[in-house]
Amino acid sequence: IKTVAVLTSGGDAPGMNAAIRAVVRTANSLGLECYGVREGYNGLIHGDFTKMGPRSVKNIINEGGTILKSARSSEFKTPEGRDKAFENCKKHNIDALVCIGGDGSFTGAKVFNEEYGLPVIGVPGTIDNDIFGTDNTIGYDTALNTAMEAIDKIRDTATSHNRVFFVEVMGRDAGFIALNSGIATGALDILIPEQKDSMEELFGTFRKAEKVGKSSSIVVVAEGEKLGNIYDLAKATKDEFPNFDIRVAVLGHIQRGGSPSCADRVLASKMGYGAVMGLVEGKSKVMVGVKSNRLIYTPIEEAIKKHNEIDKDLLKISEILAM
Ligand code: F6P
Repeated sequence: IKTVAVLTSGGDAPGMNAAIRAVVRTANSLGLECYGVREGYNGLIHGDFTKMGPRSVKNIINEGGTILKSARSSEFKTPEGRDKAFENCKKHNIDALVCIGGDGSFTGAKVFNEEYGLPVIGVPGTIDNDIFGTDNTIGYDTALNTAMEAIDKIRDTATSHNRVFFVEVMGRDAGFIALNSGIATGALDILIPEQKDSMEELFGTFRKAEKVGKSSSIVVVAEGEKLGNIYDLAKATKDEFPNFDIRVAVLGHIQRGGSPSCADRVLASKMGYGAVMGLVEGKSKVMVGVKSNRLIYTPIEEAIKKHNEIDKDLLKISEILAM
């Protein structure tokens, strides 16, 4: 291969810039040309390509977001959209595509490869950590720390006012951010989609907390939690415990922003490097990942279909430690 293109797709994640930098500079070190594609697959479709060299990625390793911008492209889901995208790849002599994103983005890359044969490699970038084939995804560690710091602040005010807080964190259908930020902030309870919860259990936990003399508490709720939306949970709790002073905080998109943590910068650097090396070695339709500190490659369909197991022991540990 002589020319690679790199794009970021789906929800942005802190560390995507570090991954772009690693792709561009690794490509350069191997004498490859590199194009950045703006706004994910939309840029492929609309021909929004920019030639990138080592200096185009200066001063971005510490920046949140993605300099290439990102999008969830509905046009790329159509055969016509993908056809236009391939025409633009041909026009720029692209031999391989690095796609930094989550499982939706990998599905696009997989279909594109199957239809047109263009080698593709996925780099897992999402705060949700819901991708198989890597211990962590780029952005997860930073988001986790952002959530933790925010919940710490909520704890201050919860304690001062003897309040119960329901705090919603992101994660789409996965509970990684909720479980780990909940443990780290000493949450009374953590509600995640991977675990069947009931209101009765939650009420039981509140009763125990009252008994042991807790005057304030935090319940961390994953956005994908199946019990109900956070406002309904708060209302049902208020109906059961009319003496509770309850507040709801939805952390939202602050979890997607900010300067990437050291762990995310290192991970992104390793994966960006691994993506280009993988392509040069002839790998395609795989996702690069890091497991036990080692670069590994997983067939992209496996990365999409399988899921990392949540550490259920942590739930048990959190229950013990909360009282
Ligand atoms: O996948 C990342 C993520 O932040 C999820 O945690 C969340 O469900 C979703 O994206 C939000 O998407 P949007 O930015 O389109 O509202």
